[in-house]
Amino acid sequence: MANNIYLLVLCVALGAVVAYRYPDLPPGPYCGTGGRQQCCTNRQDSCSHRILDTLCYCDQFCNRTTSHDDCCPDYEEVCLGITPPEPLLQPCRLNGKTYVPPSTAMKDCNTCQCILRGDNKAEWECESDVCLMSGDVLHGVNRPGNSWRATNYTEFYGKKLKDALVYKLGTLPLSPETRRMGPIRHDKDTFYPTHFDAREAWPTYISPVVDQGWCGSDWAVAIATVTSDRFAIQSNGAENLVLSPQSLLSCSRKQQQGCKGGHIDVAWNFAKNFGLVDEQCYPYEAKASPCRLKKRSTLREDGCIPPVPQRTLRYRVGPPGRLQKEKDIMYDIMQSGPVHAIMTVHQDFFHYRDGVYRRSHHGSNEMKGFHSVRIVGWGEERGEKYWTVANSWGTWWGENGYFKIARGVNESGIESFVVTVLSDVTESYKKK
Ligand SMILES: *[C@@H]1O[C@H](CO)[C@@H](O)[C@H](O)[C@H]1NC(C)=O
Ligand SMILES: *[C@@H]1O[C@H](CO)[C@@H](O)[C@H](O)[C@H]1NC(C)=O
Ligand SMILES: *[C@@H]1O[C@H](CO)[C@@H](O)[C@H](O)[C@H]1NC(C)=O
Repeated sequence: MANNIYLLVLCVALGAVVAYRYPDLPPGPYCGTGGRQQCCTNRQDSCSHRILDTLCYCDQFCNRTTSHDDCCPDYEEVCLGITPPEPLLQPCRLNGKTYVPPSTAMKDCNTCQCILRGDNKAEWECESDVCLMSGDVLHGVNRPGNSWRATNYTEFYGKKLKDALVYKLGTLPLSPETRRMGPIRHDKDTFYPTHFDAREAWPTYISPVVDQGWCGSDWAVAIATVTSDRFAIQSNGAENLVLSPQSLLSCSRKQQQGCKGGHIDVAWNFAKNFGLVDEQCYPYEAKASPCRLKKRSTLREDGCIPPVPQRTLRYRVGPPGRLQKEKDIMYDIMQSGPVHAIMTVHQDFFHYRDGVYRRSHHGSNEMKGFHSVRIVGWGEERGEKYWTVANSWGTWWGENGYFKIARGVNESGIESFVVTVLSDVTESYKKK
């Protein structure tokens, strides 16, 4: 019985005009019966045949109804010379369902086509890309004693790792000149608490976690959020605002690749020379749409309502500086607020749920990308020092959008290029 169903489906799928060769019809021939008139132009009794308890016809009117239900099963073959396809001997199967060619289905992140082979058996032909969520990572990481836990995010199911490395990250490799930039040394012999969190030190000043979506705009998000936080902190809350990553994504276009990534030095220079507007004025779209701000327009010309009446210019920053030493990074955060860091992301990181992240070497080790994040503080957990870092994948990811990563060991390169900057706070509000 199951075979009949495949046949029916096959005929429909191929757009066949007639569902011939129902295995439960008495086998013909009908039109092909010797002795009788075979194929007629007009409807006549001599051109009909008994089939079950009715008649079928072998004339050109038998197909006038859309269901073709009074055509004899072999009408097309005998009268029109159309050879029916051989019955399908074996369909494609996936998760208990059967498919006939031509059809497609997804196996996790890969598209599969049900292809007919020469021997009338169908089989899947699938893409073979590495999927973002990996059983190897889940089982490898979730062992007792590991410092962090991994989870299978439904939001990432059906996505390819190669796409995530472009559209969930977005920091293009640093240019050699940028990499040669000398670090700022604070070298302060001061008290460093074991635990520090900018969200506790400056409640209400720290901008929320952003969800960059499937757009490689981490660079724009990190720069906009670090700049926002620093505006609020340096102005003692007078310029407490959320700046718009979209104003960078859409307007810092020269040498940039929009949702396929940005150069952080170019973007910081854009923030320094042209500035950003606030989120309300230019909400996030997760696409590199054309810039609607003029190069040197004022906030009012941009249609924004500045929260501080004196402010006319966009929110700009001073020249960015580089930090590298653990203590210097800590000092800078305590003094001026969150910093922008760049880390290398491998497949396991996408699975992070909680704990102190250290690269596990489970999953793909070859594929990787650079990611811009915002370090907001530090702490210690079971004797392990960590940074507290805001990611830009929404609050459903990690610890409410944040993660902890080992500190003082340049884990995933997170201490290799950290950016600090001063925001151009309105003069009268500057923190003394
Ligand atoms: C019936 O078959 C004839 C011959 O092939 C074709 O010309 C005609 O379009 C068909 N009519 C319908 C309703 O399918
Ligand atoms: C992740 O969860 C989905 C269901 O949401 C499941 O189909 C898939 O097999 C899981 N992946 C792994 C690697 O366990
Ligand atoms: C930190 O790690 C990155 C890559 O993971 C490496 O390129 C860089 O040289 C390291 N920096 C230091 C100071 O060790």
